[in-house]
This record gives sequence, structure tokens and C-alpha cells, in this order.
Amino acid sequence: MQLDLESCSVRSFRESDAAELARHANNRNVWMQLRDRFPHPYTIDDARGFIAFASGADPETAFAVALDDRPVGSIGVVPGEDVERCSAEIGYWLGESCWGRGIATRALVGFTEYAFDAYELERLFAVPLAANTASCRVLEKAGYRLEGRMRRSAVKGGVVQDQLLYAILRGDGASVRA
Ligand SMILES: CC(C)(COP(=O)(O)OP(=O)(O)OC[C@H]1O[C@@H](n2cnc3c(N)ncnc32)[C@H](O)[C@@H]1OP(=O)(O)O)[C@@H](O)C(=O)NCCC(=O)NCCS
Repeated sequence: MQLDLESCSVRSFRESDAAELARHANNRNVWMQLRDRFPHPYTIDDARGFIAFASGADPETAFAVALDDRPVGSIGVVPGEDVERCSAEIGYWLGESCWGRGIATRALVGFTEYAFDAYELERLFAVPLAANTASCRVLEKAGYRLEGRMRRSAVKGGVVQDQLLYAILRGDGASVRA
């Protein structure tokens, strides 16, 4: 899979991505906003394992975000099951050296439109920690709507925190907004 977007791409992982993926992922500031299953420290073996998992999945659900074809982060979905199979959680991260340039917003918009069709979804949602202002802003800029606050729903770094629930529906039209 390859989506060529303005200033970045979203594409399938390659084995050769491991070293650069690990370099961007091995950052406590990235880890602090993600689930604990995202390793920290993040080694090249972690990257190799993740790439093998992502490349072997059918359908593929996790992809590289790339600048000039070099991996700088990842974006993907966890499809819902059973009665929630029309819905999926979307997640993403970027290496800190790439933050603040609009890359995540463009990757999220492009991948959201792809995901609705590729996985036959009605709804995509995300549950950022409430203090993750950057991710909330990215979701809002991409057209996701705030649906609620999940009070004391997550513990990260030893601190119990609220998460915010953002969602977009098929037909809402993801696009970069001001
Ligand atoms: C969240 C993340 C993907 C954003 O990537 P990015 O490429 O920097 O995002 P963008 O540049 O597209 O947009 C970021 C927006 O947040 C804003 N922002 C960033 N930090 C902010 C803060 N502390 N307070 C307020 N706004 C903030 C930026 O100004 C920008 O908004 P603007 O365009 O209106 O100025 C990146 O910070 C990241 O990987 N963080 C760690 C992992 C993570 O949080 N993943 C998401 C889990 S839900």
C-alpha cells in the first residue's frame, strides 16, 4: 500500500525500515502518549518484530508514515470485532524531530479516507489522553469530532488520566481544516 500525500506518504513497512523506525520510536515523549504495549526503550529488534507483524497481517493494518520515503512514524487501525466490526480505532505517532510541521494531520486525513474503504468501516475513533493537546488538535484539524470525556479511563506513567473520545463517520469527509 502507498498513499502519496502532500509532503509525506503512508506506505507498507519494509524490513529495511527497522533502524530508522527504532531511532524515531525510542523516545519517552512519544511513549508517554501511547499504550504501554509500545516498548520503551524501543530497540531495533522491537522495530523488526513490529515490521514483521505489520507486513504479515492480512489485511495490513499498520503502516509507515514516511518523508522522502524514509520512515518517521506509524499510523494504523485496530478493527473492531463482532457487532463493532463496522468501527475501528485509529492510532499514530511521529518521531519528535518531525513534530509541528503538519505531517500527522496530513497523514491522518489521507489514511482516514483510505481506511473507510479498505476496511469497510462506518466509523473511526481515537482516544487520546486528555492532556495530549497536540493529538487532540490533529484530530480536530482532520475533521474528527469530540464525542466525550472518558473519565479516569487510563493509567500512564503511574498517573490515572482521562481520555477524550474523538470520532469521524463515513461521509463526514476528512480534510485539513484550520
Ligand atoms: C500527536 C503527534 C502525532 C502530532 O504530530 P504533528 O505532525 O506534530 O502534528 P501537526 O503538526 O499536524 O499538528 C499539531 C498541532 O498541535 C498543536 N500543538 C502541539 N503541541 C501543542 C501544545 N502543547 N498545546 C497546544 N497546541 C499544540 C500544533 O500547534 C498544531 O496545531 P496548529 O496547526 O493549529 O498550530 C505527535 O506529537 C506525536 O507523535 N506525539 C506522540 C505520540 C502521540 O501522541 N500519538 C497520538 C496518540 S492519540
